[in-house]
Amino acid sequence: MDLVQILWRTYILTLLLEYTNCCTDQHLCRCTVVQGTLYADCSHLGLRSSPLFWSNVTRINLSHNILTQIPRPQSLPSNLTYLDLSYNAINCIENNTFKGLWKLSDLRLNGNKIGMPDNLDRNVFADLKNIKHLDLSDNPELTFRIMPILTYGLRKSTIEILRLNKIHCTFGSSTELRRNDLKNLKYTNLTEIHLSSNRLEMVEQGAIISLHQTIRKVSVGDNNLVFGLYLLELFFLNKLEWINATLQHMSHSPEEVLRSFLFFSCNNRRRIYQDNSTIETMKTSFCNLDTFQKSRWVKLGIFQGFSSTKINYTFPVPPKLKTLFLNESNLGYTIPAISFMKNSIENIYMQGNLLQSWIGPIRTLGNLKRLNLSNNVCSKVDRDFFQHLNALTELYLNNNLLGFNLALDKEGKIFRNLTTLRLLELKENRIANLPKAVFVNLYNLEHLDLSDNILMAIEFNIENLRSLTYLDLSSNQIQSLSGSTMDKLDQHAVQTITTLSLMNNPILCQCKTLNFLKWMVMGGHSRNIRFKNLKEYTCTKAGTVIKFGQIKQHIKELEKECASYKTLIFVVASCILLFLFILTTGLVYRYRWRLRYFYYMTKSRYHGYKSVRSEDEQTDFKYDAFVSYAEKDLRFVQQMISKLEGDKGIRLCIHHRDFVPGYDIAENIITAINKSRKTIVILSPNFIQSDWCMYELHIAKMEEIYKRDNEDVLFLVCYEEIPAENIPLSIMDVIHQKSYLEFPDDEYGNTVFWDKLHEALF
Ligand SMILES: *[C@@H]1O[C@H](CO)[C@@H](O)[C@H](O)[C@H]1NC(C)=O
Ligand SMILES: *[C@@H]1O[C@H](CO)[C@@H](O)[C@H](O)[C@H]1NC(C)=O
Ligand SMILES: *[C@@H]1O[C@H](CO)[C@@H](O)[C@H](O)[C@H]1NC(C)=O
Ligand SMILES: *[C@@H]1O[C@H](CO)[C@@H](O)[C@H](O)[C@H]1NC(C)=O
Ligand SMILES: *[C@@H]1O[C@H](CO)[C@@H](O)[C@H](O)[C@H]1NC(C)=O
Ligand SMILES: *[C@@H]1O[C@H](CO)[C@@H](O)[C@H](O)[C@H]1NC(C)=O
Ligand SMILES: *[C@@H]1O[C@H](CO)[C@@H](O)[C@H](O)[C@H]1NC(C)=O
Ligand SMILES: *[C@@H]1O[C@H](CO)[C@@H](O)[C@H](O)[C@H]1NC(C)=O
Ligand SMILES: *[C@@H]1O[C@H](CO)[C@@H](O)[C@H](O)[C@H]1NC(C)=O
Ligand SMILES: *[C@@H]1O[C@H](CO)[C@@H](O)[C@H](O)[C@H]1NC(C)=O
Ligand SMILES: *[C@@H]1O[C@H](CO)[C@@H](O)[C@H](O)[C@H]1NC(C)=O
Repeated sequence: MDLVQILWRTYILTLLLEYTNCCTDQHLCRCTVVQGTLYADCSHLGLRSSPLFWSNVTRINLSHNILTQIPRPQSLPSNLTYLDLSYNAINCIENNTFKGLWKLSDLRLNGNKIGMPDNLDRNVFADLKNIKHLDLSDNPELTFRIMPILTYGLRKSTIEILRLNKIHCTFGSSTELRRNDLKNLKYTNLTEIHLSSNRLEMVEQGAIISLHQTIRKVSVGDNNLVFGLYLLELFFLNKLEWINATLQHMSHSPEEVLRSFLFFSCNNRRRIYQDNSTIETMKTSFCNLDTFQKSRWVKLGIFQGFSSTKINYTFPVPPKLKTLFLNESNLGYTIPAISFMKNSIENIYMQGNLLQSWIGPIRTLGNLKRLNLSNNVCSKVDRDFFQHLNALTELYLNNNLLGFNLALDKEGKIFRNLTTLRLLELKENRIANLPKAVFVNLYNLEHLDLSDNILMAIEFNIENLRSLTYLDLSSNQIQSLSGSTMDKLDQHAVQTITTLSLMNNPILCQCKTLNFLKWMVMGGHSRNIRFKNLKEYTCTKAGTVIKFGQIKQHIKELEKECASYKTLIFVVASCILLFLFILTTGLVYRYRWRLRYFYYMTKSRYHGYKSVRSEDEQTDFKYDAFVSYAEKDLRFVQQMISKLEGDKGIRLCIHHRDFVPGYDIAENIITAINKSRKTIVILSPNFIQSDWCMYELHIAKMEEIYKRDNEDVLFLVCYEEIPAENIPLSIMDVIHQKSYLEFPDDEYGNTVFWDKLHEALF
């Protein structure tokens, strides 16, 4: 208890010590001594009028009160250098408002309701001889009419920073910055001017040239600026380093702007640039096209190649400009081939526009280090667009539609010259795949962000990205990484410790991804890969989501499951193989005759056996009939020879007699069948038992089907009765389809039989 009290007291005491000084009549303000002088902080006190300050107070903060007017100079200490009156309810400036405040160097009047009085003495601001920083922002009723008076008053002052943001109603009509508004500033050493949120649309020619000697920083964000000739004057602001021109509503193409130069107003040019000491170059004529080519502007490069149809646009830029903000400015056109005059631009922010197509190339930005082209719905980037940006180290291309273009860039042409690039962001670009060589020359790249795309695998070569230390693949569609990808990452990580992010990917916890899961948990085989926020990853297993917090346990379970799973796979695979084997054997058996027939036909074709029919077509066969019989039925065949050959003059092919010795028997059979008009099959129990006979029967059947257009080739003769149960199915088939003759084996019947057979053969 005591301790707490002691602490509390010391706290109060320190507070008291700090504000121990009193510096007003009413003990209201917090007064501190800063650098030997008194600083009175009277902000947020609800004051309606200013208290009386001691004469040795030099800095006063009266912000966030409800003062309705600027305190009378008499009531303010005479050595006052700093006065903050921001966010009060001050509503007017009068002729003598600043009288006696000649020592003031910093005056803030922003956030008030100052209106523009009708007949203000144009010397009213002249009292602020030593002012360095003047802030009149956020007084929307002041309007641009204050400008000539303000700048006239400040013409002999030491003003350096002038803040005039929102001195015009944001929803009023557009404004123009005129030469009169700024011309007196050329006598000052103004380095910064802020003119944001003024609905500024145009700048009169010759206006900003007044600032050319000293100005370093210009802020014209959140206006309505459209392109105009004044842009060319920027070139003469030779100390300008920084421009904030975000949030414009421009939609004219730079091409249009330069063309409009042709119609440059010649009559009043003289009047505009009266001051010939400033710009010699402005004097040359734009109007006379004959002298145009010779003019200084051409020498400066603005209209290089003007006569040809394809213009090389060379933009004038302030030579010392380092940073340019043009983000969120409604720029909506194709970026053409473009160059800039000699410059030192290092940062360009052009994100959030509608630059849908980047053709380029962009030349002469040899110092550019950082380029932001995010949020541009760009779907087309030419392969030469970035080619000349040799010093670029940071490139932001998020939230465009470059996925399609990059997928086609098989040789890595788009980024090929960005060898100094350290950081590349390609978030949200609908990238589905990246070719192997897409980042081929980026060997200084350290940080690559490919998050929020639709990648399923890493296909690009990681070997090229020698310096890569951070690869972000979060929020893609990666289910697992392949073995070769893991190997590549491992190899990479041996040299450079790599951080990899795979957050928010639909990682699978399955047997086939088990290796991948183990690899992640291990940090790669090299153990050099860091996974960012690994504990927050999730994977899905049969529909359930598993957090990586407990992944080790799950991996163990999975290992067990997968062991049995492997056996299962083995069994299933064997079954399938067995089934396939049986199936093929079955098919081969079923079509064995067909296969053999074709085999021999093909073979004979290659071995010079000429088909008889190919020479003399269907008519001329060497034999009338090939007789297929079993050895044991030879007696009947001899009988047949004598009956048919001898008596009736039919030519028979009998294998005993007519086969060419030395050839394969199977081939001989095929040739014989081929060269005979018919094949007579002598059916008998012996026939059925003979393999060769069966072969002949089937080959003849094939011949009939494939060569003779189903013309009858086969002719069956039942020589001996075969018990029905002994007849094989394949022969049964033939018997059913074909006519056949039975050998009666009695004298009278035999004569009829031979006659019929003879008939059948013709
Ligand atoms: C104002 O400043 C001057 C010069 O620094 C000094 O001589 C004078 O005493 C100061 N006046 C007051 C009231 O402190
Ligand atoms: C300021 O002046 C008052 C008397 O007017 C004096 O008491 C005080 O010490 C002075 N403070 C400083 C810091 O000079
Ligand atoms: C004045 O007081 C306000 C409110 O405390 C503060 O925001 C502001 O920064 C002060 N001005 C200066 C210049 O310190
Ligand atoms: C302020 O000065 C102008 C011009 O010097 C004069 O016309 C006007 O009457 C003065 N206003 C007041 C209120 O004195
Ligand atoms: C501007 O700066 C120059 C050089 O620093 C100086 O000679 C000149 O007096 C300054 N002008 C004003 C109005 O302060
Ligand atoms: C540029 O100006 C805009 C509009 O006033 C402002 O919102 C933005 O913060 C400025 N940007 C920088 C970098 O100062
Ligand atoms: C501007 O140039 C014209 C001729 O080109 C000359 O007569 C005039 O004196 C010059 N003015 C100044 C201020 O130098
Ligand atoms: C544009 O500039 C490039 C490079 O300087 C040059 O090769 C090309 O010929 C120029 N085109 C025209 C039309 O001048
Ligand atoms: C413009 O870009 C800069 C740098 O990225 C950023 O700080 C600023 O806020 C942006 N301005 C607007 C209006 O978005
Ligand atoms: C680039 O632009 C994006 C989109 O506006 C913004 O989020 C990012 O901060 C910018 N980056 C830099 C470095 O300005
Ligand atoms: C860009 O790189 C290619 C080959 O990598 C080279 O032929 C070309 O000259 C380079 N371009 C520039 C402007 O350096």
